[in-house]
Amino acid sequence: MTKEIVLTGDRPTGKLHIGHFVGSLKNRVNMQNSGNYDPYIMIADTQAFTDNARDPEKIQNSLLEVALDYLAVGIDPLKSTIFVQSQIQGLFELTSYFMNLVTVARLQRNPTVKAEIQQKGFGESLPAGFFTYPVSQAADITIFKATKVPVGDDQEPMLEQTRELVRSFNNAYGKAILVEPEGVFPPKGQGRIPGLDGNAKMSKSLNNAIYLSDDADTVAKKVKSMYTDPQHIKVEDPGHIEGNTVFTYLDIFAPDKQKVQELKEQYMAGGLGDMKIKNYLLEILEAELSPIRQRRNEFAKDKGAVLNILKTGSQKANSVAEQTMKEVRTAIGVDYFDKD
Ligand code: TRP
Repeated sequence: MTKEIVLTGDRPTGKLHIGHFVGSLKNRVNMQNSGNYDPYIMIADTQAFTDNARDPEKIQNSLLEVALDYLAVGIDPLKSTIFVQSQIQGLFELTSYFMNLVTVARLQRNPTVKAEIQQKGFGESLPAGFFTYPVSQAADITIFKATKVPVGDDQEPMLEQTRELVRSFNNAYGKAILVEPEGVFPPKGQGRIPGLDGNAKMSKSLNNAIYLSDDADTVAKKVKSMYTDPQHIKVEDPGHIEGNTVFTYLDIFAPDKQKVQELKEQYMAGGLGDMKIKNYLLEILEAELSPIRQRRNEFAKDKGAVLNILKTGSQKANSVAEQTMKEVRTAIGVDYFDKD
């Protein structure tokens, strides 16, 4: 029986943080372990080049870090194909054909890319490759005929564009070769984890993240520095829980919801200090992070073995992609020399 194909990935521009963990890694591991899917997970180095073209070293270094993060959270190379985007030749080719099926106007309407362009302040120096990366992402997904894509909420516009491209392609070339994918998103309210500083987004550039690779001391320091309620000065003062990052994290990570509810009531009434809730959060985060950290340290001892996993995965992914590309070339009619 052929299983539904799952395709997903991350840009290697740094290490992964706990926002990635709740936003998509958990879903990926669960889908992998369900045994119901054939999962492919891509380290999207080609996409990382779209805004880091002059810093290949950063991408090279991050490639291994992201691979370690995957292995650490429980992506198992025996169950999931972990591979590197740049090694899949067909992706460049399919992207090129897709490029003619989308308009500049449509690309300008992609809200995620729009927001990123703003945030990165590209102005006139916006690379064409960055502007068009949703097209290459559509190729990533469709070259594997993936039906499920476990990602963070911000990736929904990419999936919408992918579905449009699939329809355009199948329409233009008269064959139902490519398949429309759907996103698999985190549970409601768990998808977006704010930064330690209370900023809406946890990100490397804002320096407000807890990384899966952080050691226990670093995690403790970061939790102690977390933004709470600036008006909650003395322990006796009544505190606010909305916008209080410690409670937001507790809502996401604490298994004991009843206890969180009690702590919230106590905090609002006054008499519960920030240190107490931070220590409770730290305990919960450590229970989650310490096994991840341990596995990461184990895998990090043999970088050659990790590279080998990526190499084997890339070879397999490339041959799967090549099968789709044969169909694509025939559909488009560029199989001039393969006709018999
Ligand atoms: N855009 C994703 C990110 O921001 C990475 C990515 C590239 C991806 N290709 C993909 C995700 C295909 C899902 C499917 O990190």
